[in-house]
Amino acid sequence: TTKIIMDCDPGIDDAAAISVALNNPALAVKLITTVAGNVTVDKTTKNALKLVHFFNKKVPVASGAEQPLIKPFEDAARIHGESGMPGYNFDELVGDTVKHTAMEALYQTIMKSPEPITLVPTGAYTNIALLLATHPEVKPKISRIIAMGGSLGRGNMTSAAEFNVYTDPDAAQIMYNSGIPIVMIGLDVTMKALLTQKTLNTVGTLGEAGNMLASIFKHYYEGHEGGIPMHDVNTICYLLHPEFYQTARYWIDIQTSGPAIGETVADIRGAYHLGNTNAQVAVGIDADDFNQWFIEEVQNMKT
Ligand code: BDR
Ligand code: CA
Repeated sequence: TTKIIMDCDPGIDDAAAISVALNNPALAVKLITTVAGNVTVDKTTKNALKLVHFFNKKVPVASGAEQPLIKPFEDAARIHGESGMPGYNFDELVGDTVKHTAMEALYQTIMKSPEPITLVPTGAYTNIALLLATHPEVKPKISRIIAMGGSLGRGNMTSAAEFNVYTDPDAAQIMYNSGIPIVMIGLDVTMKALLTQKTLNTVGTLGEAGNMLASIFKHYYEGHEGGIPMHDVNTICYLLHPEFYQTARYWIDIQTSGPAIGETVADIRGAYHLGNTNAQVAVGIDADDFNQWFIEEVQNMKT
């Protein structure tokens, strides 16, 4: 099994990514940390706890950064609903977070692990930047970071910027400069791997987990035609099925100010960084593979 830590802001697609990861026996989720993003961190934390409880798991949840390092916080509640996970009646009596902050919990979990751990951030990278700045000795113990965020093309928050990177561009810059191997799962693939209406209908018939996911997806669907993106789920899909994805290596820099703030700039000519690269960027995926895989994952979920 691959040991992973999910750093997230659930969030409808984060919730789907967590659901898959908690249920797939090839993955061992050692810790879930939360960050402000789609909604405030008190809400993303509550949502993470609700999911762990829903699936009857014992995964610790640690609450993280309330706001980005420098940039003022702007949420995405208009897309993810006021709660961040609307449309399903989750149990309100969920467990508690661990006492440590996300940064401390990340540090301890990574240092205690006998083998290196994979980090899977699906929100802004604030907790990870704080961790790397405060405890740089963790770096060799992180095997790689599979991060949802960024785009080689257009953004979804501004013309230039994707939401997670836009939310905390300074954190993104720290993460991309860390020297840790990074896989960038950006809009270049997540806007291709759309879940079709047919898949959504099927998911709704697949037990209580399917019902839960279909219920929270409804809210998301309102804003999208021709299928809904499941951005964050692509991190887990890549982890389990890298063969589904075409990738290319680039050096990625982050715009941290100006009208293109939050843009992920790839050194496409290779000239600026002398041919060096800091990321493996996912650039292509077949939507049918993704839809079929997702249905199978939901089929295997146990509540
Ligand atoms: C990213 O932004 C968030 O709204 C989603 O959860 C995803 O992580 C997509 O741009
Ligand atoms: Ca997210």
